[in-house]
Amino acid sequence: MTDKIDRKRRQLIRIAGVGAAALATSPAFPIVLKKDAFEGEARSATKGFSPDVEIDMVAGITQVPILPGVPTRVWKYEAKVVRGDPGAVVPLPDTYLGPILKYKTGQKVRIRLHNRLPQMHITHWHGMHSPFEVDGHPSYAIQPGETYVYEFEVKNRACTNWYHPHAHGNTGAQAYAGLAGLLIVEDEEEQNLPLPRGEYDLPLVIQDRTFDDNNQLMYNRRGPIAMLGFLGERILVNGKPDFSVDVASRAYRFRILNGSNSRLYKLAWSDGEPVTVIGTDGGLLERPVTRPYLMVGPGERYELWKDFSRSQGREVVLESLEYHGAMPPPYERHWGDVDGMMKAMGMMGGRGGMGMGMRGGMGRMGGMGPMALLARHIPQGSRFTVARFQVTRKAKDNLELPDRLRSLPHYRVEETMNPDDPRPIAIGNRGRQFTLNGRSFEMLEALPIETMPVNTKQLMEIFHAHGEEGMAMAEDTGHGGEGDHEEMAMEESGHQGRGGMMGGGMGGMGMAMMMAMQHPIHLHGEYFQIVKRTSPEAGAMHGGEGYETVKDGFVDEGFQDTVLVMPGERITLIKPFSDYKGLFVYHCHNLEHEDAEMMRNFKVV
Ligand code: C2O
Ligand code: CU
Ligand code: CU
Repeated sequence: MTDKIDRKRRQLIRIAGVGAAALATSPAFPIVLKKDAFEGEARSATKGFSPDVEIDMVAGITQVPILPGVPTRVWKYEAKVVRGDPGAVVPLPDTYLGPILKYKTGQKVRIRLHNRLPQMHITHWHGMHSPFEVDGHPSYAIQPGETYVYEFEVKNRACTNWYHPHAHGNTGAQAYAGLAGLLIVEDEEEQNLPLPRGEYDLPLVIQDRTFDDNNQLMYNRRGPIAMLGFLGERILVNGKPDFSVDVASRAYRFRILNGSNSRLYKLAWSDGEPVTVIGTDGGLLERPVTRPYLMVGPGERYELWKDFSRSQGREVVLESLEYHGAMPPPYERHWGDVDGMMKAMGMMGGRGGMGMGMRGGMGRMGGMGPMALLARHIPQGSRFTVARFQVTRKAKDNLELPDRLRSLPHYRVEETMNPDDPRPIAIGNRGRQFTLNGRSFEMLEALPIETMPVNTKQLMEIFHAHGEEGMAMAEDTGHGGEGDHEEMAMEESGHQGRGGMMGGGMGGMGMAMMMAMQHPIHLHGEYFQIVKRTSPEAGAMHGGEGYETVKDGFVDEGFQDTVLVMPGERITLIKPFSDYKGLFVYHCHNLEHEDAEMMRNFKVV
């Protein structure tokens, strides 16, 4: 325990960066940093824990071929099984994506993660229900050269999860540089279903990237990108540009992960068939559902069923269709015209650094100013090809789509601890910075409304609360009495959040309006269920425009850990906080928003 506390303090000091000296001399942090504190194992193996599977994993720097010509320098996970089922690690050749980790429900897993990056790192197992110490909380980030030992029992039922960095402030850059991989959990129930397997069970990890003339990745999260999110100029699937694959004329299971930093996809099939969804973040649905198109926010997974039997000899394309209303109004209004948008946002000129490349931080990842990057991006909401499927092979057999997949518990509002008093997750802003419940991230803090008793289910509401009152509230919540926080955040969840508009010299547009955009909100820990998705009100102050181009693409029937919240929407959900105490972050999965502090802790006590 003392050890844990020391680590946390140490962490605070590290995170403080420039302020480290000041912190270290403050009486609250009397720790003297020893050099050897940063070497060896930051968290060691536990004696009594005997893993079924043990994996050695490295986050390091390497090169892979992506575009024709010069290989691309990337950051990449590599792993090997050192004990147990050799099938637990499935390497993917010739891509920056990490190997697919395959666990089985009930297995005990140990992973030794070695940080061979030039900066702090910690890995998060996105979607896994696991203890605080192994959830990749940013306070556990380790130094270059250090090793972190994860140990946990796989509690999830069959599902498609993923893993990626979670070092605060650098999550976006590290994930973008290549650090990401799928984590698939299997269980018997799912294995016994007549679903496509082996070569007919294909992952599709969708990402966007921008390359320089020398095939190197370029990234920047400053200036307008901190707000709009990073949007690349080409689409990669499984780490490949212009993704195309030969398939057989039969049914496939596609495991889709939106591994992009901030891009949404509106997926649809070119053959006019609806999208058949069999699974979400938390694994299979009870029954398949169909949608004309599927909206997929960053961090989300969906499992699709696609039968190519009617397309023998033809090509079927997975496209992202045009949509609107996901981005701030100045962006939408000047769609594709970056200069016009910047003027409308009042972000032209001023900061001298805007045109300059990003130095330091990413080391050798190419620098390019945010304006230059924006000038090259595919606009959010434009139409493009994601993947091509050539139905070249005639299949000997086929499967029929089962109409029942598995049974799921249905959480009821009455079984939550707070049926009449939903916990707010208020999306707001302070200037151009997005906030949650009026606050920026605080490494080890949580408000009373963010504090849950363990083994309870909580009713929660995610909504947009931009506006003057919301901002005033943020300032007020400083360090008042505990009760006040709750009252104020609840106030905001009522009438106030929807009202506030202000002038403020944004070309006549209020800050609230200017900041309305999509946010994929991700809650760590156990999966939640959506009880209700409330559409933006007609004529709402912010949000609602363009909503009809996305509204038929949501699948709220399953278990989720991330929910795409469009401008003006309100999401009511039930989330259990079982088994584990500690700090579990919740944040926007637009990684540039997360890195710009759009993150908070749930404290489970
Ligand atoms: Cu996928 Cu906290 O992240
Ligand atoms: Cu996560
Ligand atoms: Cu966001």
